[in-house]
Amino acid sequence: MNNIDVLKQDIIGTVHAANDMDSLEQVRVSALGKKGQITGMMQSLGKMDPDQRREMGQALNKLKNEIAGEIDNRVQILKSEEMKKKLAADKIDVTLPIRPELKGSIHPLSHTFEELFTIFTDMGFDIAEGPDIEDEFYNFTALNFPPEHPARQMHDTFYLPDDNLKEGDASKKLLRTHTSTVQVHVMQNQEPPIRIIIPGRTYRSDYDATHTPMFHQLEGLVIDKKTNLSHLKGCLTDFLSSYFEIDDLPVRFRPHYFPFTEPSAEVDIGCTKDKNNFKIGAGDNWMEILGCGMIHPNVLKNCGIDPDVYQGFAFGMGVERIAMLKYGIPDLRTFFETDLRWLRHYGFRSLEQPNSVMK
Ligand code: PHE
Repeated sequence: MNNIDVLKQDIIGTVHAANDMDSLEQVRVSALGKKGQITGMMQSLGKMDPDQRREMGQALNKLKNEIAGEIDNRVQILKSEEMKKKLAADKIDVTLPIRPELKGSIHPLSHTFEELFTIFTDMGFDIAEGPDIEDEFYNFTALNFPPEHPARQMHDTFYLPDDNLKEGDASKKLLRTHTSTVQVHVMQNQEPPIRIIIPGRTYRSDYDATHTPMFHQLEGLVIDKKTNLSHLKGCLTDFLSSYFEIDDLPVRFRPHYFPFTEPSAEVDIGCTKDKNNFKIGAGDNWMEILGCGMIHPNVLKNCGIDPDVYQGFAFGMGVERIAMLKYGIPDLRTFFETDLRWLRHYGFRSLEQPNSVMK
């Protein structure tokens, strides 16, 4: 065996003996590093005569490549051993009981959405979603808000900065102030019959015990050839008595104005309200709960649906608001404070089933 073969056996032996990345790196440096054995031998080539230099040069290059290959293989082996060790240590026994101090709960908002989805999908609604960032067209114009109409300001809109566009420009970007924007997307893309609910975040610049700059709405949209006001009344009355779990819940439709519905109404439910008492159900008072109406023909037209063939209704409600009423939560701001004590008090256990209209 010549010198090079001896050196090769020697270095390969140390590569195989390296049991972690650090020692492998040391082996690499002492063989191939700037002051390494092979590098040193390469530097001595200059002193050899040309024939010897050629022969030796080729042999050293081959050696260098072989050693680098051995090191790469060893790196792969060490990495996979390390991963195996890590996976073995990470093993969890999923059959172990939950540790009591780690028990989580479902946020009342998530629970309320689950209840809403259950009730409306039982009634035959599908779920549709749309973007939080919209423009004037989807938030106002398509929904029949006239330009410069005070209702555009009424919504306390958050506009996105864009130096080139003014309020009122159809493509001026904003955070949607209501989920009615998704009505427009759905009507533009889907032939009636349409029967959808739209859950989502909405934004208005407002902050007190009953308003937060971000809150959630649930919107409903039904369009077909013969959809009429009695369908709207029946649908919402069934929904409200199912959601509040009160069979004879009094429901009142009070005339109102929305630019995108005609006629429009606000819906109230019966309640008892005095100094120390608040209870939903038959009583002396009314509590406003949602907005609704028959889709304005202009909205159908703006979205490419023929108002001479189709008609429909829509409704919209604040999800935190109906959660607060059902579960006796006094302040809307607490929903988003992530206070563990609040979550433990108002949260739900993961296996609690939402109620359904199909009793
Ligand atoms: N978009 C209305 C609001 O945010 C609610 C609504 C939806 C009213 C659909 C009528 C029909 O106040």
